[in-house]
Amino acid sequence: MCSASASSTPTVTVSRDEVITGDAANNVTDNIYEKIGVNLHHIDSHPLGIIKSAIYSFFDRNYPDTFTKFDDLHPVVKATANFDEVLVPADHVSRSSNDTYYVDADTVLRCHTSAHQAETLRKGFASFLVTGDVYRRDSIDATHYPVFHQMEGVRVFTEEEWKAAGATDGTAYCEQELKKALEGLAKELFGDVEMRWIDAYFPFTEPSFELEIFFNGQWLEVLGCGVMEQQILDSNGREGHKAWAFGLGLERLAMVLFDIPDIRLFWTSDQRFLKQFKAGALDTKFKPYSKFPPCFKDVAFWVSEDFTENNLCELVRGIAGDLVEEVKLIDDFTHPKTGKTSNCFRIAYRSMERSLTDDEINSLQEEVRAQMASRLGVELR
Ligand code: DAH
Repeated sequence: MCSASASSTPTVTVSRDEVITGDAANNVTDNIYEKIGVNLHHIDSHPLGIIKSAIYSFFDRNYPDTFTKFDDLHPVVKATANFDEVLVPADHVSRSSNDTYYVDADTVLRCHTSAHQAETLRKGFASFLVTGDVYRRDSIDATHYPVFHQMEGVRVFTEEEWKAAGATDGTAYCEQELKKALEGLAKELFGDVEMRWIDAYFPFTEPSFELEIFFNGQWLEVLGCGVMEQQILDSNGREGHKAWAFGLGLERLAMVLFDIPDIRLFWTSDQRFLKQFKAGALDTKFKPYSKFPPCFKDVAFWVSEDFTENNLCELVRGIAGDLVEEVKLIDDFTHPKTGKTSNCFRIAYRSMERSLTDDEINSLQEEVRAQMASRLGVELR
């Protein structure tokens, strides 16, 4: 359980054995474990590092000496920090082991950087940016990967501060300051684009918003934000203060800004990708070095009672790694007499680096089929 006192060390070291073994609740796979500590956002010339630095420099220039930056807080956190302390309801789906990686029953791989809000407030920081890798069990396609990166921003105001600014209502003041800051940030990254604010819901903010920008002919959601729930401030040493908060996905921004077509590319060690980006350069447009054809394989089966798409995706990722581009449900029907449900998924295999041989794909697909039967308990058709 998290107590109300601040823990003294921001970074915890967790050995592989501690993460992988030991507890019945553990659902962290080797694939996922290998991503812990890679810290792509620490590399200045990596697209994720470039975006991080651009956001830092926006806040440094416009709010000098205001934000403390954290980019090495360990991704293994208490479930209480990830959920309870940011007021995620007890029955929220994100708490399920189908959606979140549990190290043990009380410990998770953070599923958002909001997991650090409460603790950072307790340590006495009023304005901060927290960047880190976050982990979610999810479906597979060009924009979803079980590990991605977020940046969280929080700015706390004392009553004296917002009154001195001439405001009569702290919440309205925060909303106005928040929108001003984030519109400025979006302009910094995307240039003079059209923007709009959409009302949203997050457990940790009220009111809550999403910012959308009009880019390359379509409206794109770029971040979530809002005025921090008073309870979070009151419970963490900031009684009666007001704050704004935001959370944004670095891959999302980088894919749009740099024309990166597939989220797996962030993890490649191929120099033909990495060499195209330069520290500090926001105007790079990625040029695909070659395009290899995808290969599609369908698998049809009678689902078992506890079958989920996320479990299937984890299994396929475990076998094919980054060679899997997409796993897509293409048929779903329930037999009228037996009541049994049949699903058909289409798996797209494609390497970002080379052509795959038929033999290689066939053996991956055979292994997928075998493990679906043995580990997911489905009946192949
Ligand atoms: N944690 C949210 C997510 O992962 C993003 C977010 C939204 C963070 C609103 C915030 C916020 O701090 O105020 O989807």
